[in-house]
Amino acid sequence: MSTLFEQGPSDRADAASTRPESPIELAVVVPTYNERGNILPLLEALAKALTNIEWEVIFVDDHSADGTADVVREMAHTNRNIRVLERIGRRGLSSASIEGMLATAAPYLAVMDADLQHDEKLLPRMLERMKVKKLDIVIASRSLREGNAGEFPRDRVRLSLLGNRISRFVCRCEVSDAMSGFFLVDASFFRRVAPRLSGRGFKILVDLLATSQQPIRIGEEPYQFGERRWGESKLDIRVGAEYLYLLLDKSLGRVLPTRFVVFALVGSIGVIIHLGILALLYYRAKTGFVEAQAAATLSAMTFNFLLNNVLTFRDKRLRGWRVLNGLLTFYVACAVGALINLSVASSLFRSHVVWWLAGICGLGFSSVWNYGVNSVFTWRREKS
Ligand code: GDD
Ligand code: MN
Repeated sequence: MSTLFEQGPSDRADAASTRPESPIELAVVVPTYNERGNILPLLEALAKALTNIEWEVIFVDDHSADGTADVVREMAHTNRNIRVLERIGRRGLSSASIEGMLATAAPYLAVMDADLQHDEKLLPRMLERMKVKKLDIVIASRSLREGNAGEFPRDRVRLSLLGNRISRFVCRCEVSDAMSGFFLVDASFFRRVAPRLSGRGFKILVDLLATSQQPIRIGEEPYQFGERRWGESKLDIRVGAEYLYLLLDKSLGRVLPTRFVVFALVGSIGVIIHLGILALLYYRAKTGFVEAQAAATLSAMTFNFLLNNVLTFRDKRLRGWRVLNGLLTFYVACAVGALINLSVASSLFRSHVVWWLAGICGLGFSSVWNYGVNSVFTWRREKS
């Protein structure tokens, strides 16, 4: 497959004003969010580590309040190998890395964190290995199993190992640290898979590994994960949800829209809640059946709405008074959904379809209805 790099410079119009420079070989892409204090130390560390390599660095900053992008611009003013890509109104480590990687002409792309937890001294070795062995990806792996994860809390290590195990299913490959945020990728390989990347959440490497349709030539370099020197980690509870989304996208997402799958999952948790409350009221509180069923329905619907608001429609999340408004729309949509459920199921049952199949079909129709109507009316994207 021919790439841009195969065309000689003479093919292009003579850019007379630009003086010839040796071509950039390596682009280091650094996603940043409130990392002001780390920029200078990182640049110094990179300059020290990459002495024999033509490199550039692209910081992809999501409009950090601490002025990270301005700090980079100040450095970039006198050094054309430093660049900043600032995104306004966007968030996300994966999408930032992807956009950074697309913003360079270098044939080799490294992604690393800004906080000096990733050992930049590994980069020349990774690059050499990629070139000699003609690899697509070289992963800098925190050898978690040997307890080499630096000052990582035990829970995080355990969570990472679990994530790794799960990722093996979607990646269909054996790597020791698919959760690593530090790796090198061949640019033409990257651009081949880029259009199909999910771009959600933190796990850009899992995304890359799971998206490639051809077998990937992978190398791994073990290293010691360092300690964050300045600022704090941005990984929080949201990351788990984002990871779930990415995994669904890369597995079931091939057949069903991921958002619908999450919506259905939330719905099934709602069923369990419904039955729990019903049992509690009916058996323990000795409430009449109809009252108990009504209370259970209302609670399960409210619970579903709230969970959908933070999980399924996180990107269109309703806040403030809009929550109340949305809740009302959700009730109405689901009530109509329940009527559809009843009429589909009962008409099938009357046509002698077996009871459980009639039940499932009713549920299926109402779920699709609920999903469709709520995505259009309850969680419509509002300009804020
Ligand atoms: N542009 C952008 N947008 N950058 C972000 C965002 C975002 O929304 N969130 C985080 N970053 C940047 C941070 O500024 C930092 O440079 C890098 O991404 C990693 O974020 P940390 O908050 O330091 O992550 P971590 O150290 O807890 O997690 C690291 O280890 C994980 C393995 O468990 C990262 O390398 C993860 O990628 C990795 O999966
Ligand atoms: Mn970090």
